[in-house]
Amino acid sequence: MDCEGIVKAWLAEAFEKVVPGCGGGRIVPSKDPRFGDWQCNDAMGIAKRAGKNPRELAQAVIAAQPLPGLLEKAEVAGPGFINLKLSDAAVAKGVEALVSDETLGIPQREAHETVVIDYSSPNVAKPMHIGHIRSTVIGNAIDRILRALGYRVIADNHLGDWGTQFGILIMGYRHFLTDEERADLTVELLEKVYVRSYNETKNPENPTWIDRCREELVKLQSGDEANLAVWKRFIEISLKEFGRIYDRLGVKFDIYRGESYYQPMLAETVDMLREKGLATQSEGAWIVDMKDEGLDVAIVRKRDGGFNYTTTDIATVRSRVADFDPARIIYVTDERQQLHFRQFFRICEKLGLCGTAKLQHVWFGLMRLPDATFSTRQGNVIKLETLLNESAARARTIVDGNHPDWDETERAALAEAIGIGAIKYADLSHDPATMIVFTWERALALDGNSGPYLQYANARLNSLLAKYRAEVGRAPEENALAIASPVEKALALWLLQYPNTVQRAGDLCKPSVLADYLYQLSQLYSSFYQSSPVMKADPAVRDSRIRLCAAVSKVLRGGLDLLGIPTPERI
Ligand code: ARG
Repeated sequence: MDCEGIVKAWLAEAFEKVVPGCGGGRIVPSKDPRFGDWQCNDAMGIAKRAGKNPRELAQAVIAAQPLPGLLEKAEVAGPGFINLKLSDAAVAKGVEALVSDETLGIPQREAHETVVIDYSSPNVAKPMHIGHIRSTVIGNAIDRILRALGYRVIADNHLGDWGTQFGILIMGYRHFLTDEERADLTVELLEKVYVRSYNETKNPENPTWIDRCREELVKLQSGDEANLAVWKRFIEISLKEFGRIYDRLGVKFDIYRGESYYQPMLAETVDMLREKGLATQSEGAWIVDMKDEGLDVAIVRKRDGGFNYTTTDIATVRSRVADFDPARIIYVTDERQQLHFRQFFRICEKLGLCGTAKLQHVWFGLMRLPDATFSTRQGNVIKLETLLNESAARARTIVDGNHPDWDETERAALAEAIGIGAIKYADLSHDPATMIVFTWERALALDGNSGPYLQYANARLNSLLAKYRAEVGRAPEENALAIASPVEKALALWLLQYPNTVQRAGDLCKPSVLADYLYQLSQLYSSFYQSSPVMKADPAVRDSRIRLCAAVSKVLRGGLDLLGIPTPERI
């Protein structure tokens, strides 16, 4: 039983009867439970447009047809609000139906449209730095949310695995590494020799270095076997290290199509631009001039004949549309790439490459520690792995303090789950477009808006449910739910908002919408729990309350799972 769906349908029909075609009937939770559970604010706007009195219109809507059984009361208040009060029995039935549904009531896309989501996408031979964490964490949460909504999602890791840096890197690899180091290659070593080789290109005492780097690049680009083998090795080593981090974060991609995958299509892409008269020549380079649209100039072929990031991204759209026919292609990167995305989106549009696909750039602000911004450009590189290790180590101190008696494996696993949960939630609980000031105290707090707090709430629910099963000898889900107090009703009504919330988080590509919801859920739960004893209550009350707890547990766990936050059994 979908309470909200029924009420919405009833309201929409009533609005249609009173003002045909007005489209009224949206509902929102009430600000104040004294006035009702939900409210509809549409009458005011519709009355204004129709030149009617808003209160009279609202009254007519309510009187247009009998109330559905699940509404106890519908009343007009103030300038024309429609306050709706649900019957306790209906809310209880709604919650029961929600949690017994396989998808927890989340509306499923019938058409299963495809969404390609391009996220994480780090650059080969460089350690993933903290700037990549937001793309990985936010992208993965959007990925999970869209899958839950019934989309066919293709998670694509668009690795930066091609470009001029490889000439410099090959030279560094050949000249600055010992045989042992080459045999035991790491990304860290690659980064080191890259920096050294890059510095050589600027060294006046070594004037030929830069030309030799270029030669190696040209050889690589023209298929030289030795250079291709080295390049493949760089990718293999990098993927091994990235994979280690993805495993820790619970992140999986469907495909890894790096920039190199699109190389064979680039010349053709520029030809298309030239044929359509979109690309023009300027100082030997080919550019698309969009200054008149406020989008500056995008270079699509450099003076030396090389292609670049923009050309690759245009080819990528063409290839994705041909291969997957997506309804949306979502890109998750930091805010500094906004112009790039606006430029190539516009170019794709002009070329008519998008098909039915909507291109969407989800950008996020940089993450700021109290003392510095994490950014390679500012030379203050804190590696993602270091951050995860630090978080797990701090969580370990907390776990050891609380459970010195637990065995080593469980403590280590729990510390890892809390450490990862803390980092992810700190990231996801903010609107992506805001700058995050990260503090360990806040991220790891067991009693604030943090990942560990929600994990802890979930674990406590587990132990309460286990206790019930042990003492009563029955599964909490076998009981019927009866709403008996305002706190219970508030909690139950909030549970009914879950499907909507997931829908909104997916539509807006904002996992923070879901994070806020879960935090609010755990707060409502905690005020319920503080005022309403469960195991100590009379059996009938106890049985209904534990049923409510089981419902909260299910939704909380489902929601944390959509955010990619681990839910340890006990904490
Ligand atoms: N490799 C790029 C970086 O690290 C991100 C790529 C994002 N995706 C894309 N299709 N441009 O900044």
